[in-house]
Amino acid sequence: MPDSTRDFFLSDSETKTLAHGKEFAGQLKKLPALILLNGVVGAGKTTWIKGFVSGYLKKKIVVTSPSYSLLNSYTDGKKEIIHGDFYRLQGLDDLESIGFWDFLNSKRVIIVEWGNLLTPQSWPADLQVYTINFEIKGETSRSLTCFFR
Ligand SMILES: Nc1ncnc2c1ncn2[C@@H]1O[C@H](COP(=O)(O)OP(=O)(O)OP(=O)(O)O)[C@@H](O)[C@H]1O
Ligand SMILES: [Mg+2]
Repeated sequence: MPDSTRDFFLSDSETKTLAHGKEFAGQLKKLPALILLNGVVGAGKTTWIKGFVSGYLKKKIVVTSPSYSLLNSYTDGKKEIIHGDFYRLQGLDDLESIGFWDFLNSKRVIIVEWGNLLTPQSWPADLQVYTINFEIKGETSRSLTCFFR
């Protein structure tokens, strides 16, 4: 996906959403990269991140939503993923105090659930920004629409 500006994927199982995240990780080349995930509760954002983390770090890591801490970090000692969940974000000031903006200028991947709460925003020029909109289509069906700025 990262080479195209828009991409659509229909997932009919949790496994396929995991696989999409994993494949996305395999294609990601440039850092820093910001991946904004949008969609309602249960849409599959955390599931996708689990797939991404397994593909990017190639080791078993427990991925949970940082609903209260706002940010989690996963690393293999060399590469690092910052996982944000901004559902409970009070305001953009909160991000200042956890040093969020600095991550966007570092060689990391930053993935944010409820990423829509961050926009509109002017991003650092070097930052690769991807957006994935998740929609629930049925009990086990989810559509993923991916954009690259
Ligand atoms: N095709 C699918 N892709 C992803 N998850 C699916 C799919 N079909 C069913 N599910 C189920 O939907 C739920 C998705 O939960 P997940 O935690 O990933 O959502 P979320 O978008 O992160 O929600 P939240 O906003 O609460 O963080 C899981 O229980 C998963 O098993
Ligand atoms: Mg989640």
